Amino acid sequence: MNTIENIKNRRSTKKFKSENISDEIIFELIDCGRRASFGGPPKKKCQVSEFIIITDQKIKYALALEYEDRQFIKDAPIIIACCANTKNDPEYMEWDISVSLSIENILLAANELSLGGCIITAFTKHKKHTKDREKLIKILKIPDHIYLMALITIGYRDVNEEIPEKELRDFEEIVHTDTYGRKYNESRKKSN
Ligand SMILES: Cc1cc2nc3c(=O)[nH]c(=O)nc-3n(C[C@H](O)[C@H](O)[C@H](O)COP(=O)(O)O)c2cc1C
Repeated sequence: MNTIENIKNRRSTKKFKSENISDEIIFELIDCGRRASFGGPPKKKCQVSEFIIITDQKIKYALALEYEDRQFIKDAPIIIACCANTKNDPEYMEWDISVSLSIENILLAANELSLGGCIITAFTKHKKHTKDREKLIKILKIPDHIYLMALITIGYRDVNEEIPEKELRDFEEIVHTDTYGRKYNESRKKSN
């Protein structure tokens, strides 16, 4: 699968086979995650992404909390908690962007390795979910300088999963030229 095909056919997977994932594959996924671009010069001190690999069944159950739309994480062979080490990149403070790039790398690598995955938010910005966020942090024993960004479930896809068709906004709706609101097609016509 080439990169463009991979990006275009990746979809969130929420049903998994019980088959375990080898350590070799887990490390390959993390290796792809840690190679993502990060804010600041290409030095260790700016690499913010850190990962907690969760296989303990009790912890997986605890992380599902009471939310209906995340109960599926209990059946994932592994969950990866993706975090930012805020002591790194103290100058640029672009942890969320750097960790998000790691997350997408992991999801794309998983897709290429015939694994499925899904990102689940860690309630970073939902004020009404602050207490639930605190619960996740406590369950995972995350210290103050580590910022929990998201959980990713990874597993071999259950082929019986029905993946809903994905709607995408049209190109014309999302692409502007030079300044916001100037339609891509209009500007192309004028310059030709
Ligand atoms: C920030 C973020 C948070 C998400 N949280 C959840 C979640 O709590 N539960 C869930 O089932 N899916 C969650 N998802 C997955 C989305 O539902 C899914 O990515 C979206 O429908 C787009 O589908 P696709 O990933 O197949 O392209 C989340 C995705 C993102 C990017």
